[in-house]
Amino acid sequence: MLILGIETSCDETSAAVVSGDESGAVRVLSNVVASQIETHRLYGGVVPEIAGRAHIEAISSVVEEALSSAGVTPRELDGVAVTSHPGLIGALLVGVNFAKSFAYANSLPIIPVNHIHAHTAAAYISAPDLEPPFLSLVVSGGHTSFYHVTDYTSYTEIGATRDDAAGEAFDKVGRVIGLPYPGGAALDALAHEGDASEAKKSIDLPSPALSGDNLDFSFSGLKTAALNYLNGMRQRGEEIDRAAFAAAFTDAVVKAITKKVPSALKSSGCSTLVLAGGVAANSHLRASLDAACKKAHARLILPELKLCGDNAAMVAAQGVHEFIAGNFSDTYLNASACD
Ligand code: KG4
Ligand code: ZN
Repeated sequence: MLILGIETSCDETSAAVVSGDESGAVRVLSNVVASQIETHRLYGGVVPEIAGRAHIEAISSVVEEALSSAGVTPRELDGVAVTSHPGLIGALLVGVNFAKSFAYANSLPIIPVNHIHAHTAAAYISAPDLEPPFLSLVVSGGHTSFYHVTDYTSYTEIGATRDDAAGEAFDKVGRVIGLPYPGGAALDALAHEGDASEAKKSIDLPSPALSGDNLDFSFSGLKTAALNYLNGMRQRGEEIDRAAFAAAFTDAVVKAITKKVPSALKSSGCSTLVLAGGVAANSHLRASLDAACKKAHARLILPELKLCGDNAAMVAAQGVHEFIAGNFSDTYLNASACD
């Protein structure tokens, strides 16, 4: 089957064509991503109203390019998969409305896709032999959560952040030390120039840990401590060693995430961990999870870097599985900001 995927949940307008067979094997034929990052950078973060307008301007040409570079015509498609939730409502509505019109005009079924499930489905592209059950760790701008994936379309959340997501914390702290939005990738690179264990002797950051036997995360305390440290240094007129700070902060976030992995594997009974979401591109997190999974004798699946951030190939990949499960919608499909 041939599935067109559409993604507009935040600040990337993306369309992709994938082919899938009945067994669920997925092949990417095209994956076009038009990023709005340069526009939002002026404001230090995503401006929802601007995001919606930019999606409207880009969507037709992005879909056209995805079809032409895949060499596929609308009539050859079997379905249109679209991110329907969660995300920025004004941004999601652009993709959902485009998908509904496109599906109606070409007599195609509409396949609503959960953005978080789509992030996880990037792993089916990077590791074609992957099959549920497995444990998925989604770390993005809005989520830091564990899911027990029991079937291609059955996800049970077994842990989540109680406040900020890890990506959000990276972006806020990155902004305060003068890195351009989004700070995550720049902070990742800067942290390689500092020595985390040396830095921690002079930079006092708490290691975020929730008491009790749970798989939840919390990053707001760490974020506040980091911002207080930076403000204090500035008020005293002291120079901030940005590389040392980036190393210490990254180390605290990465350790907090990694620490929960052994118990999440144990409580889910899974021996495979899939890392997903924009922060899955973080080199320190990838290395730390690799070590933790080796120790736990678990298989770790890391998505290719180009499939970590928002893209429509992952939406279409999940769409293949929703198609096989018969999860279609009609033209009354609505978008939702919530999970
Ligand atoms: O999944 P995503 O593209 O969008 C959401 O669904 O939220 O994730 C975006 C997040 C941003 O916070 C961005 O700074 C972060 O992923 N990110 C990174 C890296 N690359 C992107 N964070 C840490 N290290 C990276 N290399
Ligand atoms: Zn995302």
